[in-house]
Amino acid sequence: MNPKDLKKPFNWEERRPLMQDGVLYVPEYYDKHQEWAPVPFFVEAKPIAVEYCTGNGAWILEKAQQHPEMNWIAVEIRFDRARKIWSKMKNANLTNLLVVCGEALTFSKYYLQDSVVQEAYINFPDPWPKEKHAKHRLIQEPFVREISRVIASNGRVVLVTDHPVYHEQMKAEIGKVPAWELSLYANDWPNYGTSYFDHLFRGQGCPIHYLQFENKK
Ligand SMILES: C[S@@+](CC[C@H](N)C(=O)[O-])C[C@H]1O[C@@H](n2cnc3c(N)ncnc32)[C@H](O)[C@@H]1O
Repeated sequence: MNPKDLKKPFNWEERRPLMQDGVLYVPEYYDKHQEWAPVPFFVEAKPIAVEYCTGNGAWILEKAQQHPEMNWIAVEIRFDRARKIWSKMKNANLTNLLVVCGEALTFSKYYLQDSVVQEAYINFPDPWPKEKHAKHRLIQEPFVREISRVIASNGRVVLVTDHPVYHEQMKAEIGKVPAWELSLYANDWPNYGTSYFDHLFRGQGCPIHYLQFENKK
């Protein structure tokens, strides 16, 4: 399978939420998300791990293969990247991975029920480095609220970035929620796994910042 084997199943006017061939399409500029009737995402019920802002899928593909005892969800807003994840999933015959082509906050808010996620990972979310663009960063109060709702008690969230300012912002935003306990704060995490941007930034000699919070609610 090649990424281009996945075609968009609808045009802009006909956009709607749709589960098809291992992909959940969560449309943008759409006001009927509440009408979505939940369907099972996976063939077998297992603990769920979500990677938000997946990019081309290198990190989650490896995790889904290494951990078949879990179900994995890759959330990526760009269709051209979502279909790269999809083709890797198909070629590896994975049934424990769902690709969500949609926006992270919207997916969490309307498509995930309370406490259904055991682990959430956000690897190198866009840092929006210019001050005037910082308002676009994902890790802010509305997203943190949704993450707190969907993660199970004793679940965890892991955030990875090369960007020191965003790193501090992540720590502060998640740290505002009393139930979340910071359990790891490091510049190295052996065997964590790698991704396109991890590889890129390491190659440039950038320090990588890892944060892990555990939900004690
Ligand atoms: C800097 S890249 C990191 C990709 C990957 N995690 C990696 O480490 O190689 C950020 C990715 O997040 C996606 N993205 C940005 N905002 C998003 C959002 N609100 N919801 C879902 N995906 C988003 C972008 O399209 C892009 O693929």
